[in-house]
Order: sequence, then structure tokens, then C-alpha cells
Amino acid sequence: MSNRMAIVLAAGKGTRMKSSLYKVLHPVCGLPMVEHVIRSVKQSGVSQIVTIVGHGAEKVQEVLGDHSQYALQEEQLGTGHAVLQAKDLLGTLDGTTLVICGDTPLLTGETLTELFDTHEKSGAKATILTAIADDSTGYGRIVRSANDEVAKIVEQKDAQAAELAIKEINTGTYVFDNQALFNALSHVTNDNAQGEYYLPDVIELIKADGDVVSAHIMDDMDEAIGVNDRVALSQAQRTMMRRINLAHMRNGVTFGNADSTYIEPDVVIGNDTVIEAGVHLKGQTIIGSNCFVGMNSEIVDSQIADHVTITQSVIEESIIGERTDIGPFAHIRPNSVLGKEVHIGNFVEVKNSRVGDETKAGHLAYIGDADLGKKINVGCGTIFVNYNGKSKARSNIGDQAFIGSNANIVAPVNVGEKGFVAAGSTIINDVPAEALAISRTEQKNVPNYWEKLSKK
Ligand code: UD1
Ligand code: MG
Repeated sequence: MSNRMAIVLAAGKGTRMKSSLYKVLHPVCGLPMVEHVIRSVKQSGVSQIVTIVGHGAEKVQEVLGDHSQYALQEEQLGTGHAVLQAKDLLGTLDGTTLVICGDTPLLTGETLTELFDTHEKSGAKATILTAIADDSTGYGRIVRSANDEVAKIVEQKDAQAAELAIKEINTGTYVFDNQALFNALSHVTNDNAQGEYYLPDVIELIKADGDVVSAHIMDDMDEAIGVNDRVALSQAQRTMMRRINLAHMRNGVTFGNADSTYIEPDVVIGNDTVIEAGVHLKGQTIIGSNCFVGMNSEIVDSQIADHVTITQSVIEESIIGERTDIGPFAHIRPNSVLGKEVHIGNFVEVKNSRVGDETKAGHLAYIGDADLGKKINVGCGTIFVNYNGKSKARSNIGDQAFIGSNANIVAPVNVGEKGFVAAGSTIINDVPAEALAISRTEQKNVPNYWEKLSKK
């Protein structure tokens, strides 16, 4: 294997996106397009990656961090000019250089590895990754000579009618002998319909030197998509969703309707888990085995243990223990830790709280900034009053406590083990273990009220 390097083109503005966000930062399944590209490139055995930045340079560098080196293209004069900006970093090196666009997020590490391998075996000075498109509109076309060898690449805007009909397209991905690439680049001109220095022009120049150029045709055009506008962005997202969901199915996950299920690339799901229609699983989420995630649930950056049932609920940045069930319509907000066999029922919100094993909050409650022990019953309508208008405070509830319905637990307050809070109480002082706290006005009955009312 030769010394493998990569140049990622990410300096363009992306005018066709009609966006204030730079093109390569538009997300596909939650990750900026250029991050997908860098991830795939890293799987192809490269020792060095240089990303060409220009529009939104700082933002792109912020996203990619130290996964790449950077070269600045101050003016966007075309893809050939962009690659030339890497000359200071790579120009003197020997080896094989992959050039890839930051707007082709679906190309996989396997495809790039295959491209490198094919190139290294063939002895060509350049190998173009091509694909056969049903509709080649917008892409550079691969023009082959009578003996079927690649002659050149023609851009859509420069193509003759016969060339426009060509179905074989340039994916914008190539590997080059590094020296041949930089030699050829210095001869590229901007004499074309767009007045740009086109990278594809190096193909003809390398051939003119008598060197071999070959093409590696990939099977799957879906993987080759270059995202230049929002229509392509949506297609890319759909393809990526399908790819991610298929991998989970192969790992033993059941989908109610995979076409409507959105799962981001880093999510992990155990086998025999069922994911229903409309579910969104995002960020660094891990879901165990034998779970049920009911329709339209959203889980973000959370860890869900085995045998958990989630019904139409939202869970963010939280940890959920085994055999716990949540929902329908519950909201578990950041920094909550639920133990095993916890029951969080409908219209219950939990935030920044710990809830011990087998504790139940079945209906209409707010548990915020609280530490709840085990086997506690939180009655319907209970509110943990955690905010006094200025600052937040925590409350603590001991094991096996019973909080009656519609109680207000005004933080900071402690309820001891097996403490009882009577329904409708507003608790502002600690409740000792095993005591009953009742804090509500005594009931007064006015007899014959109906009669009195009608005489008024
Ligand atoms: C390019 C190819 C085309 C290929 C297609 C595949 C050229 C001239 N055309 O067209 O043959 O079929 O990709 O998707 O190369 N960029 C810079 N600096 C620049 C211009 C562009 O860094 O001055 C970057 C862009 O940010 C983008 C990439 O290069 O990531 C490709 O540019 P884009 O404008 O999308 O080229 P296409 O028209 O798609
Ligand atoms: Mg493009």
C-alpha cells in the first residue's frame, strides 16, 4: 500500500442551497455532510487529510477539529484551484492522493478503499470514481474514446448535445499519483463556460503526458449523490436513513415502518427491540435489547437499558434502567436517571432528577430537581416546586414514601423513608420518616346550601 493522502473540497458557498448555512455544513441524518465525508475518508487508510476551506472556514474547522489539516482558498475560483491550495502541505510528497468533495456524504469507507486498491493495482496515474446515473443532469460526464478508455470529463455547462446524453458521471472523487496531480494542476486554465479552474481538466492533461487514466465504476448511484440543492439534500437524507435502518434490521431490530423512522449514525440498538413508525433516535443514544419504542417517540443522547417500554414520549440526555416503562406522552428532560422497573405514566415530566427502582409516577406530575428513592408512589398532579423565581433548589424523598395526589413539594425539603404526604398538601418543611404530613385547610360543610342559594 502506498502512502495514502486525501484532499477534501469544502470551500464553496453552495449558492444553489439558497442558505445562510455553508453547504458542506448542512446535516444529513444529524451530521454535517463534510463530517460524513471525513469519517469515510478515515476508513480508507489515509495518513493525512487536508480540507480546503473558504466560505465558513472557521465553522468548518470547528466541526472537523483536529481530524484534518486545513488549507485556505481565499477566492473560490473552482475545484482545480481549490486542490492547488493543498500544494504547500502535500506538494512535495510521494504517494497516492484521494480528492473528494465535501458534498458527497453517502460515499462509504469501503468504496474509497476499493478505489485506492484498484488504482494502486492498475498502475494508472489517475483513477476516477464514476457511476451510471438514470438522470445525469448537473454532473460532469465521462467521455470515453472509441477504445472505451476515459478521454476526459465534460461539465454540464460545457457539454455538447451528444455528451449531455452520457449516463456515466463523475462522482467528484478521484485518486491520483500525488506528483502527477500537482504537475497537471499547474496547467489547468479557466477557459470554460463558468470561468473556473476545473479539477476534472487534469484528466486530459495527465493523458496528454502519455500516462494512464482509469475509471472505477461503482454499482450504486445512490451512494454517489452530490448535494448541490435542497432536493438532493432530501434524497441524501432518505438514502442515509435507509442505509442506517437496514444495518439495524440486519442486527436484529424490528421496524414498524422503517421509511418513517429517523435514526442518526451513532445510535446503537440491541436485538429484539421494536421501533415503531415515526420514531426519532438522535445523537449518542444507546438502546438495549427487547425494548419497545412506540410511535413518534424521540430519544436524544440517552442510554436505555434492556426491556424498557417507551410509548409516544420524549427522552433527552437521560439514563433509563431495565424494565422501566415510560409514557404515553411523558417527557424525560436532561440529566435524569431512572432506576429499574420505574413507571412514568402519561403527562409526567422529569427533569434533572434521580428516580429509584420501582418508583411510580403514573399521571400528570412534575418531578424537577429531586432525588427520589425506591418504591415511592408519586400521586397524580404532584408538583416538585423547584424554582422560587430566582434560584432552583432540590428535594429529597426517602424509600417507600407516599406522596398523595396534588401535593406541592416546595424545595428544598426532605421527606423521610415511608413518610406520608396527604393529598392536596403543600409541603414546605421536612417530613420525618414514617410520619404523615397534612397541610391543607380543614374541611367545613355548609348545610342546606342549595336552599340558601336559591333564596338569594
Ligand atoms: C463537481 C464536478 C463534477 C462532478 C460533481 C460531483 C467540477 C468542476 N465539477 O461539480 O464533474 O460531477 O462535482 O458531485 O469539479 N469547491 C471548493 N472551491 C471552489 C469550488 C468548489 O472548495 O472554488 C468545493 C465545494 O465546496 C464542493 C466541491 O468543491 O464541496 C464541489 O463543488 P460543486 O460546486 O458542488 O461542484 P459540482 O457542480 O457539484
Ligand atoms: Mg456538488
